[in-house]
Amino acid sequence: MRLVVVLLFLVSIALNAATNPISALGLPDPCAEIAGKQWVSPLAARTCLSSFPLDPAIKDNTIRVANLTKSFHTSVNWQIQAPEPFANDVHEDLYKDLARISLQEYQSEFEFHQDLFHTFRRLNDGHCVLINYCYDSLYISYLPTPLTLLTSPDGQQNVHIAPEAFAVASAEFGDEIESWQSALPGKLKGKLETLNGAKVLAINDQDPFVAVNANALVTGGYQSLGTRQNSFFSSYSRGATGWNYLMGNFAQQVHPLTDAVKLTIQRVNSTSIDTITLPYRSRFGRGAKNFTDSASFRANNCLATNDTNGLNMYAASHLTEPEDSEKPLPIAYFQQQPPVSRKEARRHPMNVLVDALPLSDIDLPETMQPTEPALNESYSVAQFYMLADNTTGVLALGSFSASNFSAFQHSLLDGLVKLKSSGATRLLVDVTNNGGGYICIAHWLHRIIIGSKSTTEPQAGLDTITRAGPLAQLIVQRIVQDGMDPDKLLYYNPTQWTNASNIPFTPGTDWMKPLTELKTNGHEDLFSQRLGQECQPFDVEPPRKGLFKAKDVVVISNGRCASSCSLFSITMSKLEGVRTVVVGGKHDTPQQYCGVVGGQSTDFSTIDTEIKSTHLKNHTLAPPDLLSNIVQGITWRLGYGINNPNEPEEWQDHPADINFPLTMDTVNRPVAIWEAVTNVVFKSFTPPPLVVQNEF
Ligand SMILES: *[C@@H]1O[C@H](CO)[C@@H](O)[C@H](O)[C@H]1NC(C)=O
Ligand SMILES: *[C@@H]1O[C@H](CO)[C@@H](O)[C@H](O)[C@H]1NC(C)=O
Ligand SMILES: *[C@@H]1O[C@H](CO)[C@@H](O)[C@H](O)[C@H]1NC(C)=O
Ligand SMILES: *[C@@H]1O[C@H](CO)[C@@H](O)[C@H](O)[C@H]1NC(C)=O
Ligand SMILES: *[C@@H]1O[C@H](CO)[C@@H](O)[C@H](O)[C@H]1NC(C)=O
Ligand SMILES: *[C@@H]1O[C@H](CO)[C@@H](O)[C@H](O)[C@H]1NC(C)=O
Ligand SMILES: *[C@@H]1O[C@H](CO)[C@@H](O)[C@H](O)[C@H]1NC(C)=O
Ligand SMILES: *[C@@H]1O[C@H](CO)[C@@H](O)[C@H](O)[C@H]1NC(C)=O
Ligand SMILES: *[C@@H]1O[C@H](CO)[C@@H](O)[C@H](O)[C@H]1NC(C)=O
Repeated sequence: MRLVVVLLFLVSIALNAATNPISALGLPDPCAEIAGKQWVSPLAARTCLSSFPLDPAIKDNTIRVANLTKSFHTSVNWQIQAPEPFANDVHEDLYKDLARISLQEYQSEFEFHQDLFHTFRRLNDGHCVLINYCYDSLYISYLPTPLTLLTSPDGQQNVHIAPEAFAVASAEFGDEIESWQSALPGKLKGKLETLNGAKVLAINDQDPFVAVNANALVTGGYQSLGTRQNSFFSSYSRGATGWNYLMGNFAQQVHPLTDAVKLTIQRVNSTSIDTITLPYRSRFGRGAKNFTDSASFRANNCLATNDTNGLNMYAASHLTEPEDSEKPLPIAYFQQQPPVSRKEARRHPMNVLVDALPLSDIDLPETMQPTEPALNESYSVAQFYMLADNTTGVLALGSFSASNFSAFQHSLLDGLVKLKSSGATRLLVDVTNNGGGYICIAHWLHRIIIGSKSTTEPQAGLDTITRAGPLAQLIVQRIVQDGMDPDKLLYYNPTQWTNASNIPFTPGTDWMKPLTELKTNGHEDLFSQRLGQECQPFDVEPPRKGLFKAKDVVVISNGRCASSCSLFSITMSKLEGVRTVVVGGKHDTPQQYCGVVGGQSTDFSTIDTEIKSTHLKNHTLAPPDLLSNIVQGITWRLGYGINNPNEPEEWQDHPADINFPLTMDTVNRPVAIWEAVTNVVFKSFTPPPLVVQNEF
């Protein structure tokens, strides 16, 4: 089989044609082989994906767009070598790597894409990614054994197969579970369920943390090592319609590159050590488009669509197609929030994480979900619960976005008021796997919990700057001097923003100026003046008094809280003194309670819309239209810090107050975690083994 792959590569190079050469030679079409199948082997999937040679025109186009779009990303120059505490974590020079990639030869378009993809992933910045619908999450590889990091009563930490592994896998994978049942050796054959909770002594004959740390090097998304380690393990999140289960990077992979894994395990209550080899199985992604052969695979999945590039908002064709505004952005599939229409996204700026996997739609097993119904004030990703002690209220908040901004905003206030009137005197906010969303919902939640104070009014978030390269400055000039955005549709319109005194800019203001000149890692760079907030006054009148005292509020997560979730957690922690808890992290790795702060995130197609609407597409610095089905995310505004107000918050420390250990009884069970954390943080109580990182 490997010979076949090599042969395909050689054929590809030899012909170096844009169309698939295999069928022309009478060889079986590797994409036709897997067409229409829900489950395939990783080898079969990657043989199809690898069968397309790299067209030099596609290569040039992709690099040009990536290169010119990166000039709108705020953080490029810091990312060359991030300061402490992320100096070991972020040191990716996009200038150098794009230059290297443009000179390098590739055996296939897939190989080229992986290099580009991993280059962006090394930024460890979930706002700045380059994702191709042709390859990323097209076939997602799974194992039926998600892993967890558990702490035993004596304080020792071990990797385990999740106790719920079989329940999750058998519900989600249906008959495919048989392929793993039959892969088990000897007496274990057909007994996958007995692996639940097993201690994992080795992965591919090495200490499990060799695999955890190897994954942390490539998974991207978050600056800190601890947060990237945590992504290896399973977790939960509150979705718009229910509780979801995240398999973690061990049991769920973006590309079909790994065929199998060898595990050395000790099952629960067993003294024997077993060695098993489990194959990965690749499932056709839910965002992938059906195909029948190589030609239709490419046509349906790999070429730019009508939505890939931006549009001139003032072109007659767009003005007559208002239904466009109900569609989500092309990058929406990978944004870690429920889908939001373009109209809603434009009205309420976003700060949201982008991953190469779509938001999970795997169910958290019902027996692990909260059994008491949530309060009626709950809406979508925001669910309110009262714990059995009748004094601890919980807001489970899976995202800062929901489809109806206004309903969401009301729900947050009504739910907290209801908890309080029902007797809650303290509040847990669970933001596990919260990838951010509406900036103004982060400000709103901070403001209503804490009340009216200098730290919440008028600015309840962070001041920001945006990059002011020559093309960005020209877009602003076209708007303010030539009146090119009369309907105030564009992000570069001054009327969208306020200055550092939170005074809105008037229509004619060249708002970027006076420019902020920065020299970072040897690169001179221009940014706008410091910007204030645009969320207040809110559409809903907030109560003057805070709903809870800061000392009675705890923000809890697995560290995977990003973007608008970071804006919320950071202001709550650093300005108000609210305590933060990360669950399940490795003892000796510092745990950050959030990461990837940003300020406002956006993407190539949105920037392209700004360029086209101001008639600047012909400018030498304007990225061309993409030819491929690619999305590129960027940080468009970057928040200034709290402890060091003259440097970005992005590179400042966010150490969790407590790294809370998980056990066989609490892992991935939200209510059990809330109760266990409540017992430790709110009560005088002899705590179980736990690592206190900060005194409080
Ligand atoms: C794609 O194929 C699957 C299975 O073959 C089928 O269930 C589904 O309806 C198809 N989707 C479209 C959009 O044709
Ligand atoms: C990126 O764009 C800049 C500005 O146009 C150019 O000088 C540089 O060569 C480009 N880099 C690559 C790798 O194309
Ligand atoms: C392991 O042994 C304990 C104590 O005998 C028992 O309660 C538990 O159910 C056993 N677990 C499994 C998976 O066999
Ligand atoms: C894309 O745009 C073209 C030209 O406007 C149109 O003919 C085609 O139907 C569109 N495709 C889709 C899928 O909307
Ligand atoms: C919550 O809503 C349910 C269903 O609409 C209703 O039966 C119940 O009485 C409501 N509870 C409260 C406390 O209003
Ligand atoms: C909490 O309130 C419920 C309903 O009012 C009551 O049944 C329960 O006994 C209370 N629990 C405690 C610990 O007070
Ligand atoms: C959004 O929610 C508000 C209530 O806050 C409601 O008035 C409005 O009709 C909803 N919008 C849509 C489109 O459902
Ligand atoms: C913001 O604008 C107001 C009104 O023009 C001005 O008085 C104020 O000084 C400005 N603040 C800053 C920080 O530039
Ligand atoms: C770009 O330049 C071409 C030729 O110079 C011209 O025909 C076209 O109208 C220009 N497009 C825009 C959007 O300015």
